Amino acid sequence: MTSSTTPRLVTTPGELRAALKEAGRVGLVPTMGYLHEGHARLIGRARTECDTVVVSVFVNPRQFGPREDLSRYPRDLTRDLGVAGAAGADLIFHPDVDVMYPPGYATNVSVGGVSGPLEGASRPGHFDGVATVVLKLLNLVGPERAYFGEKDWQQLAVVRRMVRDLNVPVEIVGVPTVREDSGLALSSRNSYLTPEERERAGVLSRALRAVQAAAERGERDTALLLQAGLDVLAGEPGVSLDYLAVVDGDMAERARVDNDSMTRVLVAARMFGVRLIDNLPLLPEQTGDGDGA
Ligand code: PAF
Repeated sequence: MTSSTTPRLVTTPGELRAALKEAGRVGLVPTMGYLHEGHARLIGRARTECDTVVVSVFVNPRQFGPREDLSRYPRDLTRDLGVAGAAGADLIFHPDVDVMYPPGYATNVSVGGVSGPLEGASRPGHFDGVATVVLKLLNLVGPERAYFGEKDWQQLAVVRRMVRDLNVPVEIVGVPTVREDSGLALSSRNSYLTPEERERAGVLSRALRAVQAAAERGERDTALLLQAGLDVLAGEPGVSLDYLAVVDGDMAERARVDNDSMTRVLVAARMFGVRLIDNLPLLPEQTGDGDGA
């Protein structure tokens, strides 16, 4: 299949299956829509590596907590078709909620270990919702590769774990985070913020960089590494910190860190009423881009 500027829109598993007959190597980019440059990078990467690029646009209710932003999550399918098409997508799969979870739906995918701490502790059930919908999308599309942003680092770890544990025949590809000029990681939720708030929210990436800088200077004591980031965050009154943590590839925190390439510093904070997350490799030369499943 060749890329076109307007991708084909399909909404049911039957249409999807028919559209993917003789599709060659399929790449899947799972999204919740309201696409931005970060998504465009995922789609662009898939375009260079696959014959057919499928983008799923589905705001998955099962990964939102009862007091989270499901009802106001930004949605704009027309815009998404334009962004996805320009980035090289062939197909948009945009199912209704009852297509994905019809009446009587009763199955949940729960990944142990990596799902537990950090986001898992702050957002109970979130990763079950993510794992469930991602497995369904992988089963529906049957891609050779699936592309996820590194901004959601723990999500990437959960998906990799699930794919390994359940022998899902797909390669998971992590793609580096795209940032605004302020350093703020691109996210559909940034649309909740004013330009001034987005500028101020750049403090999260500056805190991560401060931790990185301490690691580059040779610091390996986790408490001291984190203090470098906390000092930066203390200068911005708008930050309500959820966590700042240095973790290994299993999302475990250690008192001291080594030079393991999967060591990462992660932050989550509420700023101006919006929950924001970000992360960086502890040492900047590490990409964290694993070899997939
Ligand atoms: O990262 C996201 O946008 C979502 O968590 C995902 C992977 C599309 C599952 O709904």
